[in-house]
Amino acid sequence: MSKINSLFQKMTFKIHGDERGSLISLESLKNIPFDIKRIYYIFDTKPDVVRGLHAHKNLKQVLICTSGSCKIRLDNGFEENIFNLNNASEGILIESLVWREMYDFSPDCVLMVLANENYDENDYIRDYKTFLSLL
Ligand code: TYD
Repeated sequence: MSKINSLFQKMTFKIHGDERGSLISLESLKNIPFDIKRIYYIFDTKPDVVRGLHAHKNLKQVLICTSGSCKIRLDNGFEENIFNLNNASEGILIESLVWREMYDFSPDCVLMVLANENYDENDYIRDYKTFLSLL
């Protein structure tokens, strides 16, 4: 795992490939640096949609675009970075208190998210000014 800035860590997963094709395995506390409690995926996203638009108080997540592509804009109140998710063997690890916006979804995009906690609406910060005030 290589740290490229304070907003996210880019991750590259080993591809088990042979003449039949490719396979990637994700395992808690092995190539995913937390216990995976929840997996969800976003697909069939309509054109021009922006998703996310929130930060989390405590949650850690790994995002992997298993098909197609999308972009993610990350902001920690001090710096901003845009990452192009377009490779099923790459992911990004996002810690808490990072504002995220996903956009430019290709029609075939499947964005898979692994999280270290169950869904909890109380962990969401959905107002940008509130997010800034918590930093
Ligand atoms: P939402 O937070 O709007 O998604 P995004 O951050 O991608 O814009 O979630 C959409 C709906 O799905 C909302 O009603 C909450 C629900 N949801 C769950 O029930 N479980 C989950 O793990 C997630 C991420 C969302």
